[in-house]
Amino acid sequence: MSIKLGIVFNFLQLPDVSKYPFVINKRTDGIFVKKGIFVSTKSDEGYLIGIVEKIVLLNEYFSDALTIKAYNNENNPNILKGLFPSDDFEYAVAIVRNLGIIDFKESCETKIKSIKRMMYPASPGKEVYLVDEEILKGFVGLDQIQGLNLGKIKVSNIDAYISMDRLLNKHFAILSISGGGKSYLTSIIIEELLMREKSSGTPAIILIDVHGEYQYLNNTPQLKNKVKVIDTTYFQISVPKLNAFAYKKYQEQISNVQIRELSKYIKKLRNKDETKNKYTLNSIIDLIEEEPEGGKSTKQALIGWLSELERLNLFGPQENPVIKNVINQGEISIFNLQNEISIRKKQIIVDYICNQLFYLRRKNEIPPFLLIIEEAHQFCPEAAHSKALSKYIIETIAREGRKFMACLCLISQRPKKLSTTALSQTNAKLILNIKNPYDLKHLMDSSETITKDYADMISSLGVGEMLLMGNAVNYPIFVDIRERKFKSQSENISLSQECVNWKKLQSV
Ligand SMILES: Nc1ncnc2c1ncn2[C@@H]1O[C@H](COP(=O)(O)OP(=O)(O)OP(=O)(O)O)[C@@H](O)[C@H]1O
Ligand SMILES: [Mg+2]
Repeated sequence: MSIKLGIVFNFLQLPDVSKYPFVINKRTDGIFVKKGIFVSTKSDEGYLIGIVEKIVLLNEYFSDALTIKAYNNENNPNILKGLFPSDDFEYAVAIVRNLGIIDFKESCETKIKSIKRMMYPASPGKEVYLVDEEILKGFVGLDQIQGLNLGKIKVSNIDAYISMDRLLNKHFAILSISGGGKSYLTSIIIEELLMREKSSGTPAIILIDVHGEYQYLNNTPQLKNKVKVIDTTYFQISVPKLNAFAYKKYQEQISNVQIRELSKYIKKLRNKDETKNKYTLNSIIDLIEEEPEGGKSTKQALIGWLSELERLNLFGPQENPVIKNVINQGEISIFNLQNEISIRKKQIIVDYICNQLFYLRRKNEIPPFLLIIEEAHQFCPEAAHSKALSKYIIETIAREGRKFMACLCLISQRPKKLSTTALSQTNAKLILNIKNPYDLKHLMDSSETITKDYADMISSLGVGEMLLMGNAVNYPIFVDIRERKFKSQSENISLSQECVNWKKLQSV
């Protein structure tokens, strides 16, 4: 049974093609017309769906200053006030923004065949109804069977089951101010992916955990066998796998002459049986020092570059971990960068992981994957002056990953500082509260769906509310994010509690 909400009428030059007003019926059954609900009416073109954008309360009685003055006159006895039925004069008007004309399949009244643009206004005098839940699910494009449950669509009771294919396929970004709930939302997406039925198909998940926030997943009994944490303290890049040109990436100033020299030394080490596949940067340095031939200055420069790299403690005879062996379908591999302080070192690690993943995926040696990068602006910055080693590969995955089912999720608290190339390739955007006007402007520039109206709404979102737009849904929706199933112990600890705990620990 459709629920009637009111009647279309003429108000302030409306209805026109994009909007119509309706007078809200007085109800006693507790159903309220609120801003954000989806409504329908029958226009000349068919089933017109729209969203309530604004509600105006009017009372003719209080629109005239003289009347109000007379009514509130102190000499006016209360009995007289009771005789004026001012409450009965109050009525509410809702302004609806039209979204489209729905064409239904002939076999079923709730199954959507297509959505067309409207060309003609709604008719005054027609009834306005609440949109049926089934129609709304189809209109938004939810996947009831295999979707990821992220919460509830705002001002409705509908679970937001977002299609995994649509969300991941063209990459997505999670953006908000610090403390806006990005990591919280990410852990909900991870929960949903890990708890999916095997038969539904889940990619491998790789997470770059900059602050060690996701370690709790490993201590959750229900997920334990699906979670692998890799502490990057022991991370090693295999020196025998690097050719001379690869060093250019790590040491930009290295000259072509130096590279040519370096490749000679590398060749020598590769040809020797005892060093073949197990030499280190120090072996190269030793060899350079031993060799009588070659220009002194080139040798000195090479030794300088290589020693600097060696000091990073990142290069060794073998890869550790072997990336191919830690990636499994339906499981998550968390690279914990918590103990790394040097930003350069973090970027080298992320660059290496991304390169390996993309290379292995193109050769089909690892399953389709979702790569989640926390603090993405550190690894893929926009500004030319803050060069990041990992920028090139992240932008490459953003541009080409889709063809190889290599999906990217970029998380950032400073969208303005994130590479525009990468950000504009993330089709779906999960946006929590953003206040900074520069960030909002950058978002509007990088996505044509984010209009000024949306920007205003984004700046007033509360914790636990998000705007989901882009490829994952047919129409932008606001979602009340659900609670996470598995809790992190540190989640609800307040600053004062932490101070008390610290003091206790110190006095033991
Ligand atoms: N949907 C939610 N429901 C309940 N609490 C939430 C929700 N989202 C976030 N919070 C709470 O808000 C706080 C901040 O969330 P979170 O750590 O996810 O922010 P963040 O955006 O990742 O911040 P940062 O940019 O600093 O990493 C946490 O204490 C978290 O428990
Ligand atoms: Mg976070």
